[in-house]
Amino acid sequence: MRLSILTAALIAAASLGLSAGTASASEGAELKSKHFSFEGVFGTYDKAAAQRGFMVYQQSCSSCHAMSLVAIRNLGDPGAPFYDEEYPNPNENPVIKAIAEMFTVQDGPDDEGDMFERPAKPFDYFPSPFANDQAARASNGGALPPDFSMLVRARPHGPQYIYSLLTSYEDEAPEGVELRDGMSYNSAFAGGQIGMPPPLFDELVEYTDGTHASVEQMSNDVVTFMAWAADPKMETRKRMGWMVLIYLFIFALLMYGSYKAVWKDVEH
Ligand code: HEC
Repeated sequence: MRLSILTAALIAAASLGLSAGTASASEGAELKSKHFSFEGVFGTYDKAAAQRGFMVYQQSCSSCHAMSLVAIRNLGDPGAPFYDEEYPNPNENPVIKAIAEMFTVQDGPDDEGDMFERPAKPFDYFPSPFANDQAARASNGGALPPDFSMLVRARPHGPQYIYSLLTSYEDEAPEGVELRDGMSYNSAFAGGQIGMPPPLFDELVEYTDGTHASVEQMSNDVVTFMAWAADPKMETRKRMGWMVLIYLFIFALLMYGSYKAVWKDVEH
């Protein structure tokens, strides 16, 4: 019995997502060590940062990077950057509706059999900037901008790596490195040459909450947003993990109490 309680407690602890959040070198490139609000067992997404990060995504990254597994309405789900208790159904949330209208999606065919464009609705998925991978490569000097939906989880030390990538562009390649046409030098990218031109510069976005939009700040914010997109259920999962642990603790006390009571008159 004790063993099974221990096993269950271990499973509950694992579900809290205990992970060593240390940054280390990935394929030879040195990562910046940076702590994010969502790391650790008590970590939650900093909602203000995630909202600002969405602005960065919308105004810069979305012109090249798709996020095809996320629907616009997901931004208003519980735990999401724009969740509002007043609108449990995000389709009715005015902020989500306004965000949807910023995007245009392909629809059709209409009565004449033609495809047409319309402003997005909350139930639409984030539209992809390119029709297909070939078109994406053709516009980016042969390099493919990866889809954001899972990117934070797809790269080792995802948050630290992407933060480092966004803040490690260098104006000039170190001596001896010959940059190929259309490439930029980035010391966090394996090999140093990246097909993504620097996407951020100071004050690129005008934050409505007055935060100064430095490259570091925007990087922190967009990574928080991307981390949410890649793991939208994290907060629920951590909360569930704690409830299970508390439940098991009380259950263990009760079991111990009944064990003592049952055997109290028996010599052993
Ligand atoms: C002009 C188009 C363009 C914009 C805008 C852009 N990217 Fe990229 N991005 C690319 C391309 C192309 C690649 C692939 C680079 C390569 O493989 O050399 C890429 C790759 C990446 C990668 C993956 C690197 C890897 O390990 O494979 C990340 C992370 C990334 N971009 C983040 C961002 C963020 C965050 C923004 C917005 C702040 C952004 N990008 C804006 C074109 C763009």
